[in-house]
Amino acid sequence: MLSMYNLSEITVSKAPLVTELNDLLKDKNTVALVDENVAKIYAGLFKDVWNKIILIRAGEGAKSLVYTEIVIQQLLELNIDRSSNLIAVGGGVTCDLTGFIASTIFRGINFSFIPTTLLAQVDAAIGGKNGVNFNGYKNVIGTLQHPDLIHININFLNTLSDIEFTSGMAEVIKHACIHSFGYFEFLKRNAAEIKEKNPEILLEMVRQSVEIKAQIVAKDPKEIGGRKILNYGHTYGHAIETHLNIPHGFAVSMGIIVANELAEKQTALSEKEQLEIKNLLRQFGLPTDLSSLEFNALKNKISKDKKRIQSKIDFILLEEIGSPKIKAIDLCDLP
Ligand SMILES: NC(=O)c1ccc[n+]([C@@H]2O[C@H](COP(=O)([O-])OP(=O)(O)OC[C@H]3O[C@@H](n4cnc5c(N)ncnc54)[C@H](O)[C@@H]3O)[C@@H](O)[C@H]2O)c1
Repeated sequence: MLSMYNLSEITVSKAPLVTELNDLLKDKNTVALVDENVAKIYAGLFKDVWNKIILIRAGEGAKSLVYTEIVIQQLLELNIDRSSNLIAVGGGVTCDLTGFIASTIFRGINFSFIPTTLLAQVDAAIGGKNGVNFNGYKNVIGTLQHPDLIHININFLNTLSDIEFTSGMAEVIKHACIHSFGYFEFLKRNAAEIKEKNPEILLEMVRQSVEIKAQIVAKDPKEIGGRKILNYGHTYGHAIETHLNIPHGFAVSMGIIVANELAEKQTALSEKEQLEIKNLLRQFGLPTDLSSLEFNALKNKISKDKKRIQSKIDFILLEEIGSPKIKAIDLCDLP
């Protein structure tokens, strides 16, 4: 068990799901908010607790104020009170929505996460950011509140689509790039086993990624300093994601390549290391070719990024693999 410096307890496991989740879900004060696809695929897990489950619509559309109201109405109909505990079982959408509802209803009740996508296990569930989208802008309304427990079980990854798994791998590779050359080498060495979802290797990978994210968050829980390094690949990544409408991790992969090209001039990241990162992203099926990008349109989007300060925006650039630097770059110096 990892304890995120008194923020959340985190467990990472590969034990059979039924035995593990029964106690958590059966607790009399618990209501589970379960992604509808997860509920269908894992119906057996929920057979004894259907009366205490709220199904969450799959997809980003669930992260809205309108949908929040619908779920709150269902919770009130289940007579929840201030001693109740909400558990999210699903991907980043279900976790973000559940955390938002739990941290606001009755001015805040206990909540926990059982993340079921790779992205949610290594990223979205950890860090205390909860929220919904508003007027087409992502995560505009939200809270910073950590769940009591984050229970990660890698068996959920066996039913994830290839696209969702690959997308999550971009965040895993990001963790290695910003934190640990040793972890980067581990991913390179074990790429085939990871793609085949070898349970031992997958467990080790998820555990290491979770530990990296938890350590970074614990040092800067309110995101006023060092936690920014988690944005590596994300400034261009977010712009690419909305511009091309592609999965988050695919856009982050391209964002990493852009950041590395910038780093060549700004922080002297070597061509050799840039190539190493590109090759690892490619090995997992992530896109690295930037020829389809319209840089003018992306620059325009970035100039409206909420992280911009006057004409500069902070970029996370590598000096070498495992060694990131926060650098304010003038918009004129962007490609
Ligand atoms: N709070 C944070 O710090 C943070 C960080 C990163 C991303 N996010 C948010 O996370 C969201 C994306 O999360 P996501 O990628 O997990 O997407 P998601 O929650 O939409 O899940 C992706 C798809 O996988 C399905 N699914 C979930 N678990 C499954 C399983 N085990 N087997 C088969 N299918 C399964 C879902 O039904 C859905 O169709 C975005 O809204 C993003 O803003 C939040």
